[in-house]
Amino acid sequence: MKTPKRLLPLIEDGLIDEVLYPLMSGKEASVYVVRAGREVLCAKVYKDAAKRSFKQAVQYREGRKGRNSRRQRAIEKGSKFGRAQQEEEWHNAEVDALYKLSAAGVRVPKPQGCFDGVLLMELITDQSGEAAPRLNDVSVPEDLAIEDHATMMDYVKLMLCTGLVHGDLSEFNVLVDEEGPVIIDLPQAVDAAGNNHARTMLERDIRNMTQYYGQFAETLLESDYASEMWALYEKGKLTPDTKLTGKFTAVTKKADVDSVMLQIKEAYKEKQERDERMREDD
Ligand SMILES: Nc1ncnc2c1ncn2[C@@H]1O[C@H](COP(=O)(O)OP(=O)(O)OP(=O)(O)O)[C@@H](O)[C@H]1O
Ligand SMILES: [Mg+2]
Repeated sequence: MKTPKRLLPLIEDGLIDEVLYPLMSGKEASVYVVRAGREVLCAKVYKDAAKRSFKQAVQYREGRKGRNSRRQRAIEKGSKFGRAQQEEEWHNAEVDALYKLSAAGVRVPKPQGCFDGVLLMELITDQSGEAAPRLNDVSVPEDLAIEDHATMMDYVKLMLCTGLVHGDLSEFNVLVDEEGPVIIDLPQAVDAAGNNHARTMLERDIRNMTQYYGQFAETLLESDYASEMWALYEKGKLTPDTKLTGKFTAVTKKADVDSVMLQIKEAYKEKQERDERMREDD
């Protein structure tokens, strides 16, 4: 096919040889299948910030550390240079997350780098070598739904151990190949420690996964992995080896209040009895 303009620099630099076909064009990016030597890869071309939707909203960026303070100041000022810096950080966030997660044992497309706003990565394929379907496009037998849900909970845990929350995890951002689920689409990944919305996003990510797999295996709907994971993470006790149960017994405020009230009542009763005894003694 005719090479799209944004991919020309990669051909000129010899990073890729040929664009084979477009895979899809969404709100955030256009995705192509490309050839580099004998390898077939996936190229994700980011759209300009102005054409993008919600994902770059302030709540996702909170807690992201700028690479240096001059860049950070430029970004805060919103100058043309600052906007270009912000774009670059947005692109780098996805490739950085892919490197981190690959190293942590989470299945994501293996990254090959990000060049001029184009992310090059492994193409996830089905048995016939075609681009793999999204989780949304497959139906899963009950036992496999339970198995894959457990795998996803493990991936979310490993992500949290590296300090990241996906922030847009759903059946549309998970591909399925022969070996199981593969997580994609990470430019918005949030910093678990520095972002005040991290917990809410973790809960939403887990709810999306649980509801999807729960259609095929109802028992999953009773699980609560988010509270369990977050409680351990906050205490600094979540490790890649942590075995999660999906069960969480919340110590609710109400129970606390009840027990405090009971203690007060008992103390009051004791005091009354003491006062009464003293009066009798007089
Ligand atoms: N590494 C890959 N291997 C195979 N297919 C891929 C890969 N990366 C992306 N795709 C395909 O391209 C689609 C879009 O990719 P991605 O979700 O990363 O981009 P996006 O534009 O941010 O998405 P959206 O706005 O639709 O959520 C995916 O749904 C998937 O079908
Ligand atoms: Mg997507």
